[in-house]
Amino acid sequence: MLEQVMMRSTVDSRRFVGKVAVITGAAGGIGGACALRFAQEGANIACLDIAANHNEQMAAQCRDLGVDSVAIACDVTDVSAVDAAFAAVAERWGGIDIVVAAAGVYTGSPLEEAPDADWLGTLATNLTGAFYTNRAAAPYLRQRGAGSIINISSMAGKTSWPASAEYSASKSGLIGLTRSVAMELAPYGVTVNAVCPGNTLTGMVRHVAAIVGGRDGLGVDEWLALRARDCPMGRIAQPWEIAGVVAFLASEDSRYLTGQAIEVDGGMVMS
Ligand SMILES: NC(=O)c1ccc[n+]([C@@H]2O[C@H](COP(=O)([O-])OP(=O)(O)OC[C@H]3O[C@@H](n4cnc5c(N)ncnc54)[C@H](O)[C@@H]3O)[C@@H](O)[C@H]2O)c1
Repeated sequence: MLEQVMMRSTVDSRRFVGKVAVITGAAGGIGGACALRFAQEGANIACLDIAANHNEQMAAQCRDLGVDSVAIACDVTDVSAVDAAFAAVAERWGGIDIVVAAAGVYTGSPLEEAPDADWLGTLATNLTGAFYTNRAAAPYLRQRGAGSIINISSMAGKTSWPASAEYSASKSGLIGLTRSVAMELAPYGVTVNAVCPGNTLTGMVRHVAAIVGGRDGLGVDEWLALRARDCPMGRIAQPWEIAGVVAFLASEDSRYLTGQAIEVDGGMVMS
């Protein structure tokens, strides 16, 4: 992952030197790419995730880029753990500037077969977890009088497919949450936006491919090839392509951009 982000980054900038970024889902594909991108550009990074080993590895990769980084084992559905993580980060570095809510899960059951646990678990992580994250972040960003929250929604937040009621609902809800928080924090100079990725090559999309493709008797790579063919740009995204837009939304170039849900999906959803 580190090698890929370093290779693909065309921007030779250090826009975030001295800033502090908190990233949930940092052990995953998109969260990890964001962590590395912010580290590459000089920010200190708090990696929050339930996958403790991968999270530790991500923090170590950030430190290899010359910044300070800490891995915090944090389940975003646990409000006390989220609040404690933000307090610990603010204590360590004296404040917080950038927050990326990327922790997420996908289950994908057809409506009539969907176990309650899929609905409740997906909403708990993708929506309530992001709510806890935004709420915990708000006082620190307000104190700074600046900063950014970027919530990772999905193209599924703007359109839908069969057998993804819980995922689409969670990601649409996250767009609504983003708009309201953006309005509350705008007077303090804090921007709040959502990024809506299309299919992006991470563990999650392979998991989706196994479930959805499996239903039609397709292998993971076969299903991914079909999704690439559906996309106007003819391919699936790489995580660093999402991270580049997230970094823009945290940068000085986007200070007048708030409350938006930006598709980064190769043209899949145009609105
Ligand atoms: N990959 C895609 O195609 C795609 C497309 C659109 C949106 N997204 C969204 O992007 C975000 C990142 O997904 P990804 O593709 O990198 O997937 P991923 O599976 O690689 O990463 C998700 C990370 O979230 C962590 N996580 C899950 N539940 C958690 C919890 N309760 N507390 C803390 N951490 C938790 C996982 O351990 C994992 O590290 C998700 O919100 C996902 O819904 C992904």
